[in-house]
Amino acid sequence: MKKSAGLLVLLLGCSMVNAQVPSSSAASKDAEQIKTTVLVVYYSATGNTEKMAQAVAAGAQKVSTVNVLVKTPDKVTEDDLKNADAILLGSPTYYGNMSAQMKAFIDDWFLKYQTSLVNKVGGAFSTGADEFGGKEHVLYSFVIAMMNAGMIIVGPLEGSFGTVGVAALDPVNEAALKKASALGERAANIARQLKNGKK
Ligand SMILES: Cc1cc2nc3c(=O)[nH]c(=O)nc-3n(C[C@H](O)[C@H](O)[C@H](O)COP(=O)(O)O)c2cc1C
Repeated sequence: MKKSAGLLVLLLGCSMVNAQVPSSSAASKDAEQIKTTVLVVYYSATGNTEKMAQAVAAGAQKVSTVNVLVKTPDKVTEDDLKNADAILLGSPTYYGNMSAQMKAFIDDWFLKYQTSLVNKVGGAFSTGADEFGGKEHVLYSFVIAMMNAGMIIVGPLEGSFGTVGVAALDPVNEAALKKASALGERAANIARQLKNGKK
């Protein structure tokens, strides 16, 4: 066989062998990933903000290799904060502000824990009974606290308003739950990319 023909056979052989090798599956890609943890912390007296927290968690859970914790502030431990790659905070609107429980929790980042939250992903959600009762102010208050702590803020990327977080009217409707889920999913995705690189 001529030298060039031999080379052609060799190349064809290689490409056939390559064609038989199965491409790495999504499962094996997932196995390479370092687990990402999303912590959802909320206060709720009558259940609206809790519904939103569950929707945020369900959205985050859609992202593979993501571990989601949903807690009220009194149950959060220092390790929860340390291990979280994304932290999503939710509160009802009380007199235009977040609830005292959520504010005390945020103050404890310094007073009790002194845990660095730098470069963790942050997101916010709120509920309120009045259309203009301060739900969005609650979002901004969370965001200011998170930015103060050096966190990277993400919104739900749904609609042109409300990208600072998700504000839902009491009673919480399906549209708000969908946005909450989008917020959780986006925060989990970005936290996963920051941890693992864009795989
Ligand atoms: C003490 C108190 C103050 C409230 N202040 C406001 C307010 O300023 N603006 C508003 O839109 N809703 C206000 N609300 C209504 C709650 O924010 C709303 O019902 C919320 O969805 C309750 O959340 P939860 O079911 O998670 O407890 C207030 C409720 C309470 C109990």
